[in-house]
Amino acid sequence: MSAVSLLADIAGVGRDPHRGGYSRHAFDAAEGELRAWFAEEAARRGLDVETDRNGNLWAWWGTPGPGALVTGSHLDSVPGGGAFDGPLGVVSALDAVKSLRDSGFRPACPLAVVVFLEEEGSRFGVSCLGSRLLTGDLDADKARALRDPDGVTLAEVAARAGFDPASFGRDDAALSRIGRFIELHVEQGRGLIDLDAPVAVGSTVIEHGRWRFSFTGQGNHAGATLIADRRDPMLPAASLVAAARRLAAGVAGARATIGRLVPRPGGTNVIASTVDVWLDARVAGDGNTRPLVEEIAEAAKLAAAEEGCAVTVTEESYAGAVAFDAGLRDSLTGALRPVLGEVPLLPTGAGHDAAILGGHVPSGMVYVRNPTGISHAPEEFAEDADVARGAAALATVLKDLST
Ligand code: HGY
Ligand code: MN
Ligand code: MN
Repeated sequence: MSAVSLLADIAGVGRDPHRGGYSRHAFDAAEGELRAWFAEEAARRGLDVETDRNGNLWAWWGTPGPGALVTGSHLDSVPGGGAFDGPLGVVSALDAVKSLRDSGFRPACPLAVVVFLEEEGSRFGVSCLGSRLLTGDLDADKARALRDPDGVTLAEVAARAGFDPASFGRDDAALSRIGRFIELHVEQGRGLIDLDAPVAVGSTVIEHGRWRFSFTGQGNHAGATLIADRRDPMLPAASLVAAARRLAAGVAGARATIGRLVPRPGGTNVIASTVDVWLDARVAGDGNTRPLVEEIAEAAKLAAAEEGCAVTVTEESYAGAVAFDAGLRDSLTGALRPVLGEVPLLPTGAGHDAAILGGHVPSGMVYVRNPTGISHAPEEFAEDADVARGAAALATVLKDLST
């Protein structure tokens, strides 16, 4: 089964009838179905599948051991996300392994395909949850206490799904086995469109983080409460949305996004008592994101005070800028040169598990063209021919790196 047909295989899993696209989140039914699908497809390719202490799936070609060449990505999505962000890296890895095995190739090192838990952080709020737990970048106690939008903790959800949350935490045994990690991913911007190339090699990942702004006012009646008597947290929340855009627009290479805003209690004829607003901020360079967030927070505090409201600001996740291992990066472009010519290097504003691992082991990325240049939306796309090119490119680099 090729990468294209594997994608078709899961095209019906986790479709979101309300938002469009896909909603596949940690330990929900759709993600559980994808885990089972992955285990079956990996076993069909002669791989030995295991789940690590943090809920990440590993499919081994050869006995797990040090110096392993690992590839893979994630299967979870953002709410209403596209079909390729995550799954493309997984199906391409399965396709690459199968074509290498069928060709009679035998890697000189252990090789594994990995599926990381909750890369999007859509349920529990922290992106790259599985890879951060694996590396110890996320404290296990903090992780266990993370709550989903219904207020259920990760520990409770994981236990219900048959995992032991007490086992979450840095996994030195698993980490020490990884010699190098390569993630193939659909491109999430316009880089390859503008370069008119089907495949690129990753160079850097921008620093990024998520902050929760919680505004508190006085819940009240929409009709019986005069404007002058209100302390409406929706007002500073609204000004935060505008301030984030205004302040980010003034900083080179900055992005600030508010895509999630939750008033409580959320009635049409009810002045909200609290409003939670999540800011996703990312700035090119190193160490420029938190200063921008501080400016945005100052504006939020002023707006809250004007409306007689309180506001708290909490940093929920943060990942510093990453430049992928130069030696591995050059090995990737070198391996692809005979088949694809000079493959471009691409920086990205999107976060990835490869960037988390990049702080611990040599990591690299291969991107596949997305002709819409849109991601985290149903329009995210990759042509069959480019999907096939990406899987073949991954097979080429895996063979080159494990010969
Ligand atoms: O948010 C990101 O950049 C990634 O898609 N998780
Ligand atoms: Mn994503
Ligand atoms: Mn992704």
